[in-house]
Amino acid sequence: MSKPKPLRKAVLPVAGLGTRFLPATKAMPKEMLTVVDRPLIQYAIDEAREAGIEEFCLITGRGKDSLIDYFDIAYELEATLRERNKVDALEALKPSSIEAGSLVAVRQQEPLGLGHAIWCARSFIGDDPFAILLPDDIVQAKTSCLKQLADAYYQTGGSVVAVTEVPREHTNRYGILDTGKDDGRLVEVKGLVEKPKPEDAPSNLSIIGRYILTPEIMPHLSKLEKGAGGEVQLTDAMAKTIGEVPFHGLRYEGRRFDCGNKIGFLEAQIAFSLDRPDLADDVKGFLKNYTQNL
Ligand code: G1P
Repeated sequence: MSKPKPLRKAVLPVAGLGTRFLPATKAMPKEMLTVVDRPLIQYAIDEAREAGIEEFCLITGRGKDSLIDYFDIAYELEATLRERNKVDALEALKPSSIEAGSLVAVRQQEPLGLGHAIWCARSFIGDDPFAILLPDDIVQAKTSCLKQLADAYYQTGGSVVAVTEVPREHTNRYGILDTGKDDGRLVEVKGLVEKPKPEDAPSNLSIIGRYILTPEIMPHLSKLEKGAGGEVQLTDAMAKTIGEVPFHGLRYEGRRFDCGNKIGFLEAQIAFSLDRPDLADDVKGFLKNYTQNL
């Protein structure tokens, strides 16, 4: 195996309408919803940085411009905070700054599917390996989920997706693996099916919103073939690269929260606040009060 190309790029699809969170998302992107005190998009960027990502591409849509503003310099705010010597507040702002030229945004003009969203990033991707992070999913982990995937990418030299077992009745919500050799952590991917019915699913091992893909996927994506739900599916294009490049699923270590739905989002608030030394004791206190009479 020749040495894999370094992984430096990430694509973050953020064009979704967020209808499950209306009215909150009527006038703000769902990726700006906060878990504790950071927007979902910040979790994805932090995770990517931990994996060595240096260049970011947001796939946006209409009404999503505040995501770009979020990563800009906030001159007035910063000047005021400096004047008032608000050191902690200035520190809190730091993760939201991205080096000039390291963030680009591409508009997906029509919601034609995740595969189409990634195809919109083709100039950014070029001939390089790239990560995809779906900001709806956040993962609480000692080593960031994407860093775990990146380690597996350097080990295998091919595409790697983060996977987890789901109840069989939920296979129709995810991309599902047809599995080959499995060492309990890294599993060879023999096939992939987007949102199969439980009775048709080749396993119950599902893809979560973290991927590292090699550029071999681009010619397949460029065909823009429609799949499940009439959308251009990333899963279908990935399936076509099996055999061309090594392809694995990684059972990552950590807990994933699906913040694209209300229960996952609420659970994430609890889990991430319990992980915060400045909040944990108070949160435990009120949780006890709320739960003692349940
Ligand atoms: C997308 C993918 C699916 C994957 C899921 C992970 O589906 O198409 O393969 O399992 O993300 O969250 P969506 O959630 O956009 O319907």
